[in-house]
Amino acid sequence: MKRHIAIFASGTGSNAKKIIEYFKHNPKVAVSLVVSNKAEAPVLKMAQENGVPTLVIDRAFFYQTENILKIFNQYSIDYVVLAGFLWLVPTYLVRAFEGRMVNIHPALLPKYGGKGMYGMRVHEAVKMAGETETGITIHLVNEQYDNGDIVFQAKCPVETTDSPDDIAQKIHRLEHRHFPEVIEKLLTGNTSKP
Ligand code: GRF
Repeated sequence: MKRHIAIFASGTGSNAKKIIEYFKHNPKVAVSLVVSNKAEAPVLKMAQENGVPTLVIDRAFFYQTENILKIFNQYSIDYVVLAGFLWLVPTYLVRAFEGRMVNIHPALLPKYGGKGMYGMRVHEAVKMAGETETGITIHLVNEQYDNGDIVFQAKCPVETTDSPDDIAQKIHRLEHRHFPEVIEKLLTGNTSKP
């Protein structure tokens, strides 16, 4: 049976793009919906250009109704991927997708995670602390920020000359290389990548 992913993203969506491209011709997995809380987020345009339906949500819709589950039904969504989505996931959605919802975090959790730790703030904190390595974490989503079971981590060195921007670039490269493949493994048990 074909698996259908919904991606939640609020920003540029470079990870969402890589995931959409990776599964474009895959008979077993499809990205079937992109959800954003920002109507102007570039990720929405990118999704539409790739023929993926989009949904914009506001706080009331997300937190005070469970209507997103009905929409997920319409698109046969059975897996959720958070890729640059900053809102805490409400309990009804965590429960409905327990073990079937992952997030990517741009650091080696449990370090540099939690509320307010996102984007450049993470890389600035890594730099300030004088870390010699950082990395990415893909983890299951529960009701707390960046707290669910870790399913994958990859590391990269931090040179003393690296700026937070340099670190961000290294992290994005790592994310793009690993995230689609890890999702495929979680969904199908293996990877189609040569
Ligand atoms: C990524 O660095 C991810 O780790 C974090 O948000 C960022 C999203 O970047 N959760 P992009 O929008 O996919 O480029």
